[in-house]
Amino acid sequence: MIQYLGHAVLYMKTKNTSIVTDPWFSKKGAYESTWFQYPDNTDIDFSWIDGLNYVCISHEHEDHCDIEFLKKLNPSTKIVTANFINKRYVNLLKDNLVNEIIEVDDRTTFELGDVKYTPMIQIPMGQEDSAMIFEMNGEIIVNFNDMKPSQKDLDWIKKRYEVDYLLKQYSGASWYPLVYDYDDDKMYDLCRDKRLFKYQVILNVINELNPKFYIPFAGPPCFLQNDTYHINFLVENTFPSEADIYNFFKENHPSISEKFMVLMPGDSVGDDWKDNLQHECFTDKVGYLKKYKDRREHVIKEALSKIEKVDYSLWRKCIKYFYPLMRSAPRLCENIGGSVLLNVSGNYEEKIIIDFVNKTVKHFNDEEYFYEFDIQGKWLNHILENKMTWEEFFLTLGFKARRKPDMYNEHLMAFLKLADPVSYKEYEDFHFDELEEEMFDLKFNGKDYKCQRYCPHAKGDMSKGKIIDGKIVCPTHNWKFSLPDGQCVTNKSKLIIEAI
Ligand code: FES
Repeated sequence: MIQYLGHAVLYMKTKNTSIVTDPWFSKKGAYESTWFQYPDNTDIDFSWIDGLNYVCISHEHEDHCDIEFLKKLNPSTKIVTANFINKRYVNLLKDNLVNEIIEVDDRTTFELGDVKYTPMIQIPMGQEDSAMIFEMNGEIIVNFNDMKPSQKDLDWIKKRYEVDYLLKQYSGASWYPLVYDYDDDKMYDLCRDKRLFKYQVILNVINELNPKFYIPFAGPPCFLQNDTYHINFLVENTFPSEADIYNFFKENHPSISEKFMVLMPGDSVGDDWKDNLQHECFTDKVGYLKKYKDRREHVIKEALSKIEKVDYSLWRKCIKYFYPLMRSAPRLCENIGGSVLLNVSGNYEEKIIIDFVNKTVKHFNDEEYFYEFDIQGKWLNHILENKMTWEEFFLTLGFKARRKPDMYNEHLMAFLKLADPVSYKEYEDFHFDELEEEMFDLKFNGKDYKCQRYCPHAKGDMSKGKIIDGKIVCPTHNWKFSLPDGQCVTNKSKLIIEAI
């Protein structure tokens, strides 16, 4: 039996094994109550909890790893996760739980009773994540949750499995472009492009793996705090609902839409699900969220009151935080290649500049910078005291950002999101070591070229990329590289392209 329990949670039961994946049931939501489950899954039937054998967790994000819930588990329930190089998240589990924690190596099958579990770790992109492949009662469940598989990952799965159920995030779970200072038209276009691109990724993965069923999964969240409540209702945004993606596929890819199952918390796979499209959360989002917001008002107030207000300079704390990290990652800092300005607001206002080239942290004095964050002192302090990661803070959407030029700097994001010397080393080895590149033949404007096969971002297969308007587009995350020079149009990455 496979039951959907909301967001990225599955309950799976065989004759003698029961498993829950990526639990998120907290009435406090996640990320200091800036995110909430949509639809609300906090009042489902939890009668299975005492007899639960395993909890499988894909990664450390709070909306997949609800520590308060895990503390309620029977001590005999085992926690299972991929064996990541960075131990921050496993240590967090160990510090909070008495339960045995099992770490399973990448692409290694481990038996959980009569269920086989195989984790697939995402290649280092500045965030640790893993897919979970289950073999259960003769069926294969590939649960990608938020993990972004490369073409090599998809090939690996295709070679080994006939997939029955594919579960994958289709909705944005990111702050781009919503926190950036764009005018309404540009914001609309960027949100639409991002939404359509996410749909395209789902289409690609379905075409590659040809599962019997696809379950839209792992989002979106909803935003119930006053500052971000409007995001739920933007005409075009990066958080489409399950009904939105189903309707899009029904109209544009009708045969693929036949594979869809739109489930509500508590539904089992195989149940007749079409009535779910009439659920109030889809048909009357305004009314549904208004009631939900009222139910969470006291929780949000309490969460906000617990974040310490700051009425002093955070400059010294920034030095203490950034200096050791910058010194542990010289190649990463060199590749970030510039400075970031923090406009700190709140009870103590100041401007702090983090210079990654010279590895210094100073008060701003008109230096050049290429990224700028408007951040409240209380949030910056929360991060500097390691009460929240940068990524968790970014996910709150409670800040503004600007870039000069308007280009993504993935190395900066990796620096902030990883914030750990061991993970930096893994990232640096992956991105900056000179490896012999596999090349493929490319024709452009009637001329023949050899082109680097795997994308410098995360090894998307460029030989499957389309050429649009003089650019080759990576099929994995849509980065575009000009032809024939190979320069990425949105960041400094470059594809090796040689004329033959
Ligand atoms: S792998 Fe991410 S854009 Fe190519």
